[in-house]
Amino acid sequence: MLLLTLFVLPLLTSASLDFRDDHAHTAAGILPGSWHHRTDHPVHALFKRGPETDGITYAEVGSPAWSAAYPARTPDSKAMPKEWLDALKAAVSASHIPAIPVATNLPNSNPTYPAGFDPKGTVVCSATYKCRNSGDIWDAPDNTIGISFDDGPQPASDKLLTFLKEHTETATHFLIGVNLISNPNEFKTAFEMGGDMAVHTWTHPYMTTLSNEDVVAQLGWTMELIHNSTGGRVPKFWRPPFGDSDNRVRAIAKEVFGLTTVIWNQDTEDWSLTSGGTTAKVINASMTKWITGPKSPGLIILEHELSDQSVATFMAAYPLMKLNNWKTISLAQMVSGTSAYQNAPSSSGTVTLAGIVASNSNSSSSASKSASDTKRPSPTGSSKTSASATSTAPSSALSVSWTAGPTALLCFIAFVMLT
Ligand SMILES: *[C@@H]1O[C@H](CO)[C@@H](O)[C@H](O)[C@H]1NC(C)=O
Ligand SMILES: *[C@@H]1O[C@H](CO)[C@@H](O)[C@H](O)[C@H]1NC(C)=O
Ligand SMILES: *[C@@H]1O[C@H](CO)[C@@H](O)[C@H](O)[C@H]1NC(C)=O
Ligand SMILES: [Zn+2]
Repeated sequence: MLLLTLFVLPLLTSASLDFRDDHAHTAAGILPGSWHHRTDHPVHALFKRGPETDGITYAEVGSPAWSAAYPARTPDSKAMPKEWLDALKAAVSASHIPAIPVATNLPNSNPTYPAGFDPKGTVVCSATYKCRNSGDIWDAPDNTIGISFDDGPQPASDKLLTFLKEHTETATHFLIGVNLISNPNEFKTAFEMGGDMAVHTWTHPYMTTLSNEDVVAQLGWTMELIHNSTGGRVPKFWRPPFGDSDNRVRAIAKEVFGLTTVIWNQDTEDWSLTSGGTTAKVINASMTKWITGPKSPGLIILEHELSDQSVATFMAAYPLMKLNNWKTISLAQMVSGTSAYQNAPSSSGTVTLAGIVASNSNSSSSASKSASDTKRPSPTGSSKTSASATSTAPSSALSVSWTAGPTALLCFIAFVMLT
């Protein structure tokens, strides 16, 4: 398998501490007719109410109070909110989290499993080993390119966001927690121009090598930051760093946080542009081949808002996408149809006020305990995330079915040293 020998430290900037998050974009007070997440799902216990009308004063994005509330580096799962641990315990005791051993790896190499656990088999089904779980997103619909960028926000995001704005495009941003702390201005710009905020973990580890608790902490803090900084929006999608997920990790993401796992079907390897890996010329050739090639399935191309070079390869390829009549759309909008977040249609739509309540709801029987819980219709337009259940899958409305298939590569290590 692939061995990642290159280790890159991204560009750093210090956080600007003086901008205001006025929540001007947040429409609140209207309860839509549908809630895009099972109301009895444990996720409702994890993030207490969202929008400004919840009566809570949220720290200004980028302010010292805002950043001080989050882990500076790898989160300590022993110090995470009790609700998250309770939700994990409930999912484990309900047998919703497969008991697959934690994988191990040498630095920057693919995780391996103990003998008897085939990473390509249906029990483990590791995306690193190209096993496709049908509950995960690998492909785009025909004729469609789902636009997304990993590892932001970064200083290089500014150029990308300007370009996207000029072309009336928005993207899904798979964000790294420590980069959000370092680059809040880019985060705010991406959100306010309508970009969809999604999770790429707090410090970019190989997730299959982490304990259940550490997986929860990596996802939970990133979700909480996005939730508390975007008027209460709960992300719906996450992409594992290096594409490294397996049935245990994806079940935790789904069962504890309601997150759907997103991989990709083409990889530019643009993360290595600045470290002697691939070149702009090679990416140009790959892009040309993909964009002028078959349109079924559509394209989910792995790209990074990591460096000026990686952003430039997207900008160079974009005209060819248009020339070849591809439909281009933010990946989260493409997959969700109606709701890029679990409780909001997009970065500018209404945030659902009800549904996220502080209670340790555990199963459907506990949902009625909350005054604000009412039965709502199931999600619409999200058939990909609500396939039928099988024995190893998480239960009922959020379940997925499990099969195998190809593709999964390495991404990139992004550590930001906070000073
Ligand atoms: C996020 O907001 C909730 C209230 O919705 C608050 O309880 C929590 O402390 C906030 N988290 C951080 C890290 O500031
Ligand atoms: C490849 O490079 C050529 C020459 O700069 C440019 O005209 C073309 O648009 C590029 N194509 C892609 C897909 O980046
Ligand atoms: C969840 O349900 C299980 C089994 O019904 C029970 O043992 C456990 O205590 C419950 N947990 C919570 C947090 O309510
Ligand atoms: Zn990444």
